[in-house]
Amino acid sequence: MGNHAVRIPPPVGLVTGGARGIGLAIARLWAERGASIAVVDRDPAGERAVKAASGGAPVAYYEADVRDHARALEVVADAASRLGGLDYVALNAGVTRDRVSWKMSEEEWDEVIGVNLKGAFNYVRAAAPILRARKSGAIVFVSSINGLRGKFGQSNYAASKAALIGLARSLALELGPSGVTVNVVAPGMVRTDMTADLPGEALERARAESPLRRIAEPEDVARAVCFLCGPEARHVTGAVLRVDGGQAMACESA
Ligand SMILES: NC(=O)c1ccc[n+]([C@@H]2O[C@H](COP(=O)([O-])OP(=O)(O)OC[C@H]3O[C@@H](n4cnc5c(N)ncnc54)[C@H](O)[C@@H]3O)[C@@H](O)[C@H]2O)c1
Repeated sequence: MGNHAVRIPPPVGLVTGGARGIGLAIARLWAERGASIAVVDRDPAGERAVKAASGGAPVAYYEADVRDHARALEVVADAASRLGGLDYVALNAGVTRDRVSWKMSEEEWDEVIGVNLKGAFNYVRAAAPILRARKSGAIVFVSSINGLRGKFGQSNYAASKAALIGLARSLALELGPSGVTVNVVAPGMVRTDMTADLPGEALERARAESPLRRIAEPEDVARAVCFLCGPEARHVTGAVLRVDGGQAMACESA
């Protein structure tokens, strides 16, 4: 080895919705494991949290709304050129606008489908040509068990999360021959800002549904995403991995 050692550049991971919650945990874990990280979020104040979580790893932060298709193309190209490539993409940005279907507004429907589904497509559309050219890489969608089992008051959200599974499986077929894996994680209840305002009974119900009797921390989901991006999952593609403490055990797959 010695002088002949080849320097392998660090992998580069891009996560959407990475200013807080599950996305920030993904960025932190990637950085801890030696990756450079690109984070996209609409929060203008998110950069500070990302920098703090990165522990000194190279970071590129982009303030952007994932619904903006042209901006996605721009952001991904810039991240790949600044950080020296692109290896992992986590489509994590998501919102809820809960209401029973017969009272749901067109705006509530459009926002959730726009962010959760089109936002994910926008970043995959931008990243796929780069991953194909490199002939390796991993894409992970953050869905939800409510996309598998449905949820009262969440028809928009459940539809968007179920649709991500169809999108992921189609991409797995399209990108597999180029050596790119495409998978889905389906979390149950996770302790983040998204669930902070839920009534205590909702959290208790989720805890009771889980055989492990716990609510997930963001890092629990991030670990699964890291697994699906890493060499230990090199033969896993088109899979839906529930990270729900067994909360939706009966819904093995879509
Ligand atoms: N928390 C849970 O219980 C839970 C369960 C299952 C799935 N999920 C999914 O995990 C993902 C992350 O959720 P979280 O709990 O960390 O939520 P969160 O609300 O804490 O974080 C979401 C992040 O996405 C960003 N974001 C929202 N809309 C955006 C947009 N249009 N463009 C760019 N960024 C945007 C927000 O600014 C925020 O930083 C979501 O897709 C969510 O649906 C969460």
